[in-house]
This record gives sequence, C-alpha cells and structure tokens, in this order.
Amino acid sequence: MVAAGFPLKHLLIVYHSQSGHTEAMAKAVYRGANAPDIEAVEVRLLRAFDAGADDLLWADGLLLGTPENFGYMSGALKDFLDRTFYPCEGKIDALPYAIFISAGNDGTGALTAIRRIAKGYPFSEVHEPLIAKGETTETVLGRCEDLGMTLAAGLEIGIF
Ligand SMILES: Cc1cc2nc3c(=O)[nH]c(=O)nc-3n(C[C@H](O)[C@H](O)[C@H](O)COP(=O)(O)O)c2cc1C
Repeated sequence: MVAAGFPLKHLLIVYHSQSGHTEAMAKAVYRGANAPDIEAVEVRLLRAFDAGADDLLWADGLLLGTPENFGYMSGALKDFLDRTFYPCEGKIDALPYAIFISAGNDGTGALTAIRRIAKGYPFSEVHEPLIAKGETTETVLGRCEDLGMTLAAGLEIGIF
C-alpha cells in the first residue's frame, strides 16, 4: 500500500519519434501521468527501441505513441511489438492501453495497424486514441497531459 491507500500500479509509455512531434506528445503524456494527485502509479517512459518484454510484463497499463509513416505505425514501434509478442504470449491478460499518434494527414493507417496487432497480445483499449495532425500545439500537448492523467488515475483507482 502507498499513501493514497491504493496498491502501486505501473504505467508504461512506449513511443518512437523521428522529428520530435511524437516525443513532445510522449513527454506531455508522461507529465500528465505524474500529476501530483496521483500517488500510487509509477510511470516509465521509453523509446520503442529501448523497451522490451520485461517492460511490458512490468506494466499494468500501456500507452503507445508513434508517428504515422507510409500509412502505418513507425518501424520502431512495430519492432517493439515484434520483439515482445512471443516473450509475452500467454502472460498478458487484456492490458489496458491507449494510443497517441502524430500524423501529417489523418493517422488512421497507424491506428488500424496498432489495433489489429493489439488484439493478439491482448491489449484492451480503454481510452479513445489521440491523433494530432500537423504541428504539436499547446492544445495538443494539453490533450496529451489529460490522456496520461486519465490512464494513470484510472489505473490507480482500479477502473481499468
Ligand atoms: C518517411 C515518412 C513517411 C510519412 N508518412 C506519412 C503518412 O503516411 N501519413 C501521414 O499522415 N503522415 C506521414 N508522415 C508525416 C509524419 O507522420 C509527421 O511528420 C509526424 O508529425 C512525424 O512525427 P515525429 O516528429 O514524431 O517523427 C510521414 C513522415 C515521414 C518522415
């Protein structure tokens, strides 16, 4: 037990970013998840190439962030999923997760691809995806903070 009276939960944020937009989103998600009122959630922020099966097995909740590249998720996020699928097979039970995407267009190619693969783990989508088109504005970053806070708060109080 911790101060808030809830058991400690773990939230993993895995992202890739080439030109910085998704990284800015990921950092805002991380800030939100670390909001002062949320005391019983430990948050881990990792680039996709640095994350592995141990991180996924550690997690009680997951946030996946990617740019849309060539109508798909980034190769780095796909690599993370490729590397972790078999080591985690049978060890994950509907892990609560959500997706954030930075795209020049509508982001639906990346979204569809992640959702299809997520069914296999399985991950359970608990929040609508956040898709930012074009520049990463303060409004977008605010929505990212809200996303991180919502996932962390939901984990803390046990609604996910
Ligand atoms: C190689 C490449 C392919 C891209 N393909 C798409 C695409 O298919 N659809 C789209 O909406 N944006 C596409 N974009 C634009 C990126 O998704 C967009 O610039 C995004 O904000 C980049 O995020 P990042 O700064 O985190 O790397 C592409 C960018 C690159 C570099």
